[in-house]
Amino acid sequence: MTNSNWTASTSPQQQNLRALAEKTLINNDLGGYTVPTHGLYPFQWNWDSAITALGWMQFDEQRAWQELEILFSGQWPDGMVPHILFHKDSDSYFPGPVVWGADKPIKSTSISQPPVVGSVMKIMLEQAKDPHFAREKATTLFNKLVDYHLWWYQQRDPEETGLVVTYHPWESGMDNSPAWDDALQAVPCVTWSYERRDTKHVDSAQRPHKSEYDRFLYLVDFFKQHQFDSKRIFAQCPYKMNDIGIIAILHRASKDLLIMSEMLQMQDERTEYIAKRMEVTQQAISALWCEKDHYFYSRNVLTNQLVAVKTSAGLLSLYAGFASATQKTSLNKTSIEWLQASQFSLASTHPSASCYEPQRYWRGPIWLHINWMIALGLEESGYQDTAKSIQNDSRELIKLAGFYEYFNPETGAGCGGKDFSWTAAIAMHWLL
Ligand code: GLC
Repeated sequence: MTNSNWTASTSPQQQNLRALAEKTLINNDLGGYTVPTHGLYPFQWNWDSAITALGWMQFDEQRAWQELEILFSGQWPDGMVPHILFHKDSDSYFPGPVVWGADKPIKSTSISQPPVVGSVMKIMLEQAKDPHFAREKATTLFNKLVDYHLWWYQQRDPEETGLVVTYHPWESGMDNSPAWDDALQAVPCVTWSYERRDTKHVDSAQRPHKSEYDRFLYLVDFFKQHQFDSKRIFAQCPYKMNDIGIIAILHRASKDLLIMSEMLQMQDERTEYIAKRMEVTQQAISALWCEKDHYFYSRNVLTNQLVAVKTSAGLLSLYAGFASATQKTSLNKTSIEWLQASQFSLASTHPSASCYEPQRYWRGPIWLHINWMIALGLEESGYQDTAKSIQNDSRELIKLAGFYEYFNPETGAGCGGKDFSWTAAIAMHWLL
């Protein structure tokens, strides 16, 4: 936790950073969609794009809506919005469309990513300076958004347990989180050889290990061999997770979708169905609460075990709004103690955990879009001071290091890719 003396007033330094943030998005624009960063991630990523739209909203509303339109242009007929859309060829990334093997008009991966887009759309609708235009755009996208949420509830929770299942660590958006370690052990390794491209752009000490990549690729092959058939994959996938991060983000986005359905007067039996499924989630969520640790964990569906490692995903339960009053109190206490455990916050894995690695991707580094969601959840739960501390640290990090992909909680150093879209977008939306 740092003591920031940066006030909310617009200083020249803030103006400068804001201009740089705008420039980052403009430079990463590939004609209607934004790459997370050039080289390392040369395509359109699902939750990156959604978060990035919040940044575009600050200076080009038309462009912000276009980001979402292009994202939904890659939606599969069953409603799934893929995790990556390969609009243009690039050889700086692996695995590309051939390895994924999904035969669709817009080449894509065959899994999704945290569905934050519904929540983003609601913010865009509420904050629009041109409400007429925003309403028109939201109205056109709304049914696609509903299809996407129905896909989560129906294809990823066909037994209506209330807790959707994810099939790949890449789907969680938190690729090498220690929460996936044990479950990944049950996944075989690919037997073919491949050449990674990520470690050509970023120091391998800041990236996942080969042992993880071998299993990530096995799962990609598995989906292809099962012809992307939802029923077969649900029945046989060797990796099935109730990811508390995705469950929380979906729940919040469904709530926002229902609010939008009222704003746009688009309520119907499909939105009613989503409301019913949300009630089932609210009932089921206690299964992910660990009474001993006072914390929400993900659950390995195949072993029915909670994954008892404290990652920042558990704090998204506040953002989702499904924590009870006593759970909220515990989670705020945990957050305060978490903030004190490193120089900057909030580390993606609790610094006291043995698997904590402050510079390796999702095993410790700070991610600003996650900070934003956690702070929002804390604020809405009545913990303004804790939320402010997270916001101050986030500001301090961009001031010190710029718009990096993620940050080392011990030193504040920027890690991973440079000039990163979602970091610049969150800076504009939340920090500057
Ligand atoms: C990495 C991150 C993922 C993100 C993608 C593009 O795979 O783990 O969350 O969407 O990069 O930035």
